Amino acid sequence: MPGIISTAPGKTILFGEHAVVYGKPAIAVPVNEKMAKAKILPNISARTESIQFIASQIELDMEYSQLEQKHPLRIAVDEVKNFLQIENYPSCKIFLETSIPISSGLGSSAAISVALINGLLNFVGYTPTPKIVSDLAFQVEIEFHGNPSGIDNTVIAYNKAIMFQKEKPVEFINPGAEFSLLIADSGIKGNTKTAVSEVRERWMADTSTFDLYFEKIGNITLQAREMIETGDIFSLGKLMNANQELLVKIGVSHSSIDNLIDTALDHGAFGAKLCGGGLGGNIIVLVNESSAPHLSDILINAGAADVIYMKLKPGESA
Ligand code: MEV
Repeated sequence: MPGIISTAPGKTILFGEHAVVYGKPAIAVPVNEKMAKAKILPNISARTESIQFIASQIELDMEYSQLEQKHPLRIAVDEVKNFLQIENYPSCKIFLETSIPISSGLGSSAAISVALINGLLNFVGYTPTPKIVSDLAFQVEIEFHGNPSGIDNTVIAYNKAIMFQKEKPVEFINPGAEFSLLIADSGIKGNTKTAVSEVRERWMADTSTFDLYFEKIGNITLQAREMIETGDIFSLGKLMNANQELLVKIGVSHSSIDNLIDTALDHGAFGAKLCGGGLGGNIIVLVNESSAPHLSDILINAGAADVIYMKLKPGESA
């Protein structure tokens, strides 16, 4: 049984976070500039099932059997065993690492799950479809995030730009032009589980107002898909700003996010919004290719902890 390496990208949500939890469509793209990696090596010296996890970034060196029942890594292994209908998984050492910052809206938890589940299946000679990996990773996400929509595991497992809506088949988006995006980290850790549950409390307290917000976000997302496919960067920027206004209304922005967004817009960005759960984390900024390096410096000077430059290109996602 040869060793294997399995990777998975980060992700960002261009439109529709939170509303997607309430059944509205959302648009997400993979961020291949940041990756999670699972390296699985056979452990032929172990007699009984021994699955050793080594994640030096979080100082974890532990046997699967010692992890608590609800630990995401344990759930991932259990999901794979269940799927393969095997009682014992072959003994192995699993090295996990990631360049995706945690709690920042870039899908770090889903990327680890996808890389691990894909790796565990490949290690035993099973080549899964993206849907299988996504469905299994979703079970881990449920434990991690409480009430996830499924968008993170889906965009990461397919590694393509998608329009996602709960209980509907995933749709792929093919951009009509090249779009330049900056992803700027506010440096404030967000917590998706907290953000999603706080939004739920507000929704329960004022359902009609929040349903209207989600409806508006859903409509913005549908228009945005059209603008991405026709390559209309100006309109797309305006839609990002409109989406951000609604994210502020549902209470998931943060002063450091607002500050970075204002800075980006003051310096010629077409549009900017938070991405992911919010309450911190990253913003996504739509820019001219030529002004991207300069704006990136400006965002760093304004307090961004890191800025990623990425492009959304025609043909890559069809
Ligand atoms: C998290 O990346 C996006 C949220 O909409 C939560 C979810 O869809 O599961 C905030």
